[in-house]
Amino acid sequence: MTAFAPSLQDFADLSTGEFPSQRLIEPGKLRLSELISALSVALDLTEGQPAGHAARSCIIGMKIAEQLQLPQDQLVHLYYALLLKDLGCSSNAAKMCYLFGADERQIKHDLKSIDWTRMQASVSFSWAHVAPEASPLQKILKVAALFATGPEGARRLVETRCERGATIARDLGFSEQTALAIRSLDEHWNGKGQPDGLKGEEIPLLARILGISQTVEVFFQLGGAAKVSEIVRERRGTWFDPQLVDIVLKLSNNAAFWESVATRNALELAVQWEVPDEIQYVDDDFMDRVCFAFASVVDAKSPWTFNHSNVVAHLSRDLAKILGFDEEMQRDMYRAGLLHDLGKLGVSNAILDKPGKPTDEEFAAIRKHPDFSEKILLNVPRFQQLADVAAAHHERMDGKGYHRRLVTEELPLHYRILAVADVYDALTAKRPYRDAMPLEKVMAIMDKDSGTSFAPEVVQALHEWIERNNPQTRVPQQLEAVDRLVDNI
Ligand SMILES: [Fe+2]
Ligand SMILES: [Fe+2]
Repeated sequence: MTAFAPSLQDFADLSTGEFPSQRLIEPGKLRLSELISALSVALDLTEGQPAGHAARSCIIGMKIAEQLQLPQDQLVHLYYALLLKDLGCSSNAAKMCYLFGADERQIKHDLKSIDWTRMQASVSFSWAHVAPEASPLQKILKVAALFATGPEGARRLVETRCERGATIARDLGFSEQTALAIRSLDEHWNGKGQPDGLKGEEIPLLARILGISQTVEVFFQLGGAAKVSEIVRERRGTWFDPQLVDIVLKLSNNAAFWESVATRNALELAVQWEVPDEIQYVDDDFMDRVCFAFASVVDAKSPWTFNHSNVVAHLSRDLAKILGFDEEMQRDMYRAGLLHDLGKLGVSNAILDKPGKPTDEEFAAIRKHPDFSEKILLNVPRFQQLADVAAAHHERMDGKGYHRRLVTEELPLHYRILAVADVYDALTAKRPYRDAMPLEKVMAIMDKDSGTSFAPEVVQALHEWIERNNPQTRVPQQLEAVDRLVDNI
């Protein structure tokens, strides 16, 4: 698909040598805005948008707020709502993929460029996008099934996404205004939006700014400032608050502003829009919470990966402890575990949830995800080493892994921890095309591949961990997640 461009950033070459200071995250002050704007690229990926979509929406929204002379406290709530507007994006991915029988990232991307409130646009969109590879009859049946869910089905899809996004924002400790802006970003001025059909000033002002900013960003990419003016004029008083449309129209001749939106450094520029007197820094506990939140976004994408990142994170931390790494490194390994599969947000559920083995082409798409994880994490300057470790979680000692095909000498011990934790969890979990393996079988595979795929000392540490912890299967939880998805459809 053409929708996804991995990143607008230029990335540094990676060093794969031994890590001298044994820290994955360089110590020092890290601005919350830097961390959140960098990780917002993971949300862009899930939405099928080019990297930097959320950051550019943030630049646009903050400019609108400046013109509105929004009070400072509101600016802080707005700033994080703009960057995190798509926090709930993965929660409806599996359902959307099932309903359309197609790559949900393509659907999500293309939906942003039509007026789906118009019946004709909605019907043509569905016909063009539903089950693209099916026979005409299958396609008709699929479209009929999609329309049978009716407006309530569409509302629930949006509600799942918006509610989940607001919940994660609250869990992270962001304000209620930020959470409500995220919840209501798809409401329309005329009351025909989702999920609550709020009308006019019933829609929180910050949500109205989010709504128009994301649309302006999408159409600026499609046709520049002229296209933006055309679309906002067309949707004045229907989708958008007329007052906000007038501000966007006033900006239409502001070349410097549009140049800033077009910048290759959208993430850096978004950081500069942080409210100057309200700059926040990330302490260790908050860093854990942010990593956990993004892990939950990854794990929510597919019922089959339920809790995967979380399990890998805890196991990586425990293995690091058994292997004698210090507490700081154990904590960093926990964070690497939480974030290792961020790049999976760029893989369609049509592949992740397929009830059969992936084809070669599909497997090639899967093999890109460590590269995506790396590119996202490299956007945080202090995460260089963390990005290295995350990028190597599918590498093997014998060079037959992916995506760089590194070999033993290029894989320091802490890299090899994540690989063992990841495969252990994958084999003990059920997949759409195979049952979960019993522990004895899993460990027989780990032992057999010790020295070729895996580092023998890490496999030994895993044996010790199992002996101490007597781990229980998480298949029942996985199946509950699958049931919840099926009930919801
Ligand atoms: Fe992975
Ligand atoms: Fe994984």
